[in-house]
Amino acid sequence: MIELAHVTKRFDDAVAVDDISLHIAKGKFCALVGTSGCGKSTTLRMINRLIEHSEGDILLDGQPIAAYDPVKLRRRIGYVIQHTGLFPHWTVARNIGLVPRLLKWSAAEVQAKVDELMGLLGLPKDEFAHKYPHQLSGGQAQRVGVARALAADPDILLMDEPFGALDPITREKLQDELARLQAKMHKTVVFVTHDMDEALRLADHLVVMREGRIVQQGTPLALLQHPQDSFVESLLGGLERGLKQAALTRVKDHMAPMGPTLPAQSRIPATFSLRQGLSMMLRDHTDRLTVVDQHDVPVGELTLRKIVKEAQPEQGKARES
Ligand SMILES: Nc1ncnc2c1ncn2[C@@H]1O[C@H](COP(=O)(O)OP(=O)(O)OP(=O)(O)O)[C@@H](O)[C@H]1O
Ligand SMILES: [Mg+2]
Repeated sequence: MIELAHVTKRFDDAVAVDDISLHIAKGKFCALVGTSGCGKSTTLRMINRLIEHSEGDILLDGQPIAAYDPVKLRRRIGYVIQHTGLFPHWTVARNIGLVPRLLKWSAAEVQAKVDELMGLLGLPKDEFAHKYPHQLSGGQAQRVGVARALAADPDILLMDEPFGALDPITREKLQDELARLQAKMHKTVVFVTHDMDEALRLADHLVVMREGRIVQQGTPLALLQHPQDSFVESLLGGLERGLKQAALTRVKDHMAPMGPTLPAQSRIPATFSLRQGLSMMLRDHTDRLTVVDQHDVPVGELTLRKIVKEAQPEQGKARES
């Protein structure tokens, strides 16, 4: 769907993006991470032609983006930024309906779309439709920004640190919502973040940039297991990498059947991560948890031994062979 081949961007003599190649398949979630100034935002803005690239090819559905009319292109691509860019003198409903109105949808169609999106993003219509941006909290404004980006049903969503300014709890809630929306709508998403846990959690494809270049890309798990150098390793969390890997693994995929012994006192839902399991073991001073289903019925057990083995699959393999 989106393909960058040897793309370079120069601002005068300074190289902001240096010969990057990247392929993002339809419906996939790609996260760009890297230290400040490494070219993440520039990469996003080249995709929707807010800035023109200097060299290389950027293709959308196999067509060079230069072949698309920039205005039409931007309507196909939703764009969400950290400070939402809402129009301050427009109500929430009017802000969300901006692009559909530009596309000359009928008033009824615009209204229906706005209502649908407000529902999807947890913004009750009666409460929020007539509010102005200054009357919203940061998290609410961010939801309006996401709703507005989704309004014309774009197939591509570019998100530049969309949850950067939010507290951890609101941030996690919006991450959940985004994951849920993504599972339902299958947009092709390019997402920039400084929060590694956010990137690892949401991304199918993780891209690490440094000084304008891509230093490594692959699945979150592949990068955690095989960081190419000490830069990638420290960016991905250094010594915390083991825990981050455990956070990506579900209990239900690694539990053992109930043993002959009595069920353990502490219970963990099967949908939780191995990291959460480990944390519960530390908290409860135990090396064994009972795994329960959504009705709190025991379905298996999780042992510390199993977590240690599963969180380090390669060492596990080495020991077996
Ligand atoms: N319009 C511009 N004119 C000149 N230089 C620019 C322009 N936009 C970006 N740059 C430079 O290009 C480089 C990459 O900037 P970019 O905004 O893409 O970084 P970033 O990875 O998004 O950083 P951050 O994490 O801080 O947002 C920086 O050195 C920046 O100073
Ligand atoms: Mg940026």
